[in-house]
Amino acid sequence: MTKTLSDRIPGQTRPAQDESPRYTKSPHDGNPQHTKPAHDGIPQYIREIDAYIPGKPVEEVERELGIRAIKLASNENPLGPSPMGVEAAKRALGEANRYPDGGSYYLREALAKRLEVPRQNIVMGCGSTELIHVAASVLLGPGESAVTSEGSFPLYYVAIEKMGAKLIAVPLKDYAFDLDAMARAIEPETKLIYVANPNNPTGTVFDADAFAEFLAKVPERVLVVMDEAYYEYVAMANYSRSIELVREGKNILVLRTFSKVYGLAGMRIGYGIGPAELLTEIDKIRLPIPVSGAAQAAALAALDDFEHVRRSIEVNRDGLAQIGKGLREMGVKFVPSVTNFILVEVGEGADALAEEMLKLGVIVRPMAWMGFPRAIRVSVGTAEENDAFLRALGQLETGAASAKRGVSGRG
Ligand SMILES: Cc1ncc(COP(=O)(O)O)c(C=O)c1O
Repeated sequence: MTKTLSDRIPGQTRPAQDESPRYTKSPHDGNPQHTKPAHDGIPQYIREIDAYIPGKPVEEVERELGIRAIKLASNENPLGPSPMGVEAAKRALGEANRYPDGGSYYLREALAKRLEVPRQNIVMGCGSTELIHVAASVLLGPGESAVTSEGSFPLYYVAIEKMGAKLIAVPLKDYAFDLDAMARAIEPETKLIYVANPNNPTGTVFDADAFAEFLAKVPERVLVVMDEAYYEYVAMANYSRSIELVREGKNILVLRTFSKVYGLAGMRIGYGIGPAELLTEIDKIRLPIPVSGAAQAAALAALDDFEHVRRSIEVNRDGLAQIGKGLREMGVKFVPSVTNFILVEVGEGADALAEEMLKLGVIVRPMAWMGFPRAIRVSVGTAEENDAFLRALGQLETGAASAKRGVSGRG
């Protein structure tokens, strides 16, 4: 089945809050900068993609509402950036008049050593999201298809559809990737598969054996992009052997990021580990210098900031337990998570609930735009921030507000 975002997502509305995206298909909205001739020259398959409209900055929302807000909306590291990374970035800024190393030599060298793969198997990106896009750019075209899951990271859908390729989105099963159904969905025209492990926004995971079984069913010509953005947080035994698979020469591109456990989301830097031949082709078509010098320096230093990584994982583990306990006590249904966020099934009116939480100074994401109209997603914060979230939710769930929203029970 081929679907666009708006087919999948019922009632896409969004409260006025930080960067939560809103998708729309109507470019001629009265804005004089939207000129019809320019629009008409753009391929139909691009015009059909739902546009991402960035929300207001948190500071602006705070100013408008006269509040101080706690941001638990974008799965960021609540402890801040790696201090060693910040120091290195500051030093690198002194060289900002120079173009940085487009090949990220030292960083790829360090990652190669850490992961025990040749440097030629590593590619840096302007966030791992850039690599999601370039994988589609080198592989897909009209008449071809790519497989992923419904209820997953929306950038996969955009990466596929921007190439004029067919998006095959397989439904989730119990909030998790249905790998069997995904293998069955592969067509002769399929060139690419995106899997998120763990998945955003459900926080679910499959183990290395399940993935090996899946990979055995995927024809060799199909590239599997294995997105492990939350890799460092996952405490499960037998979680991933993805790097081994790259070493064995499998057609798989593993994606990881400095945005989460290293706290460098604002620097925009992630990396991929995959076949050297694929990375050579990617290098030909992308921007020559995708990652800034400050980002490269920050990431290189953050890799050795073991104390920050250790604390980040610990605070997240405790936060997951704290939020889980609080939700259970309130009788609110949620999906157990191995990541740094939790999908909470609040029932009907999830959008309105997120809006009301914002007024109480807690920013969470309503999840209709990601395919879960009865849910919000909360990122794990510090203990105090998690408490504030639970207090605000408790207040709304027991108060008149929930009656006004017409909450019909648990999701
Ligand atoms: C599934 C998934 N992939 C990738 C990313 C990371 O993106 P980036 O490395 O570009 O910050 C995220 C971040 O939210 C994510 O949830």
